[in-house]
Amino acid sequence: MEIILAKSAGFCFGVQRAVDTAYKEAGKQHVYTYGPIIHNEEVIEDLRKKGVLVIEDLAELDQQEDETVIIRSHGVSKDVMEQLETRHVNVVDATCPFVKKIHTIVQDESQKGNRIIIVGNKDHPEVEGIIGWCETKSYTVQSVSEAENLVKNIENEPDFEHINFSLVSQTTFNKNKFKDIVDIIRKKLYNVVVHETICNATAVRQMEARDIAKTVDAMIIIGGRNSSNTQKLYDISKQECENTYYIQTLVDLDLTTFESVSRVGITAGASTPNYIIKEVHSSMAELSFEQMLENDESKASIR
Ligand code: F3S
Repeated sequence: MEIILAKSAGFCFGVQRAVDTAYKEAGKQHVYTYGPIIHNEEVIEDLRKKGVLVIEDLAELDQQEDETVIIRSHGVSKDVMEQLETRHVNVVDATCPFVKKIHTIVQDESQKGNRIIIVGNKDHPEVEGIIGWCETKSYTVQSVSEAENLVKNIENEPDFEHINFSLVSQTTFNKNKFKDIVDIIRKKLYNVVVHETICNATAVRQMEARDIAKTVDAMIIIGGRNSSNTQKLYDISKQECENTYYIQTLVDLDLTTFESVSRVGITAGASTPNYIIKEVHSSMAELSFEQMLENDESKASIR
């Protein structure tokens, strides 16, 4: 069996930076991450053992003087930042610089009076954070039909031709889908400035997944259950390769499925630690070795 491991598999720069930050802060008193630092239960558990706890709400803080709150790579809204400041906690901001850039764009553009269109999932923490930096009306769309509805609603507004819009994207949004949505919005709304804010790490990972999936008999996608970028890798791969499997760790992998596979691809979402990728890769390598031995044995018995 030939195993193709995607070069881009695993932690992206922003996630690596946030996870390193959490481990650096571990060991200090009262350290919290605002939401899980990554969508990976094993890493969260390891950090918990080292004293880094997850809070989902600022009300969960103990109001101690030496509290540290780490902001994960997704970033947070301006309101959350201000609340942290008033609580006098030590804020360690691990917002990915690419997400920070979107906060700056939407804040600057909305201060100019432009309305903001965000292409992304409105329930994703990154998008919730971005919305929180908009100072004018903002809209979120994640599908062509939502974009069509948005355009229809805006066209019903008086003087809609004179409304200015700035459009940004969630960093992990699918490039092709983004293009389709932007085409619809641009056709109907006159004054739209598009800021292409899809992170290259995501695009590279998606492209590589597609390229590998096209050439293999089976594809393994590794990532946390709640990781939207892993889900996208799965969707893309599934379009090219019917035998695509989404697993969280090696435990979810049914090796018997791969017994007759001759070429397998492996990739992983941005929040998958290297050791999980290595474990999966090693098991496939072992399986491949066993296949080779079996083949040699059967050849020998024929002779
Ligand atoms: Fe940042 Fe891109 Fe990762 S935006 S968190 S480097 S996917």
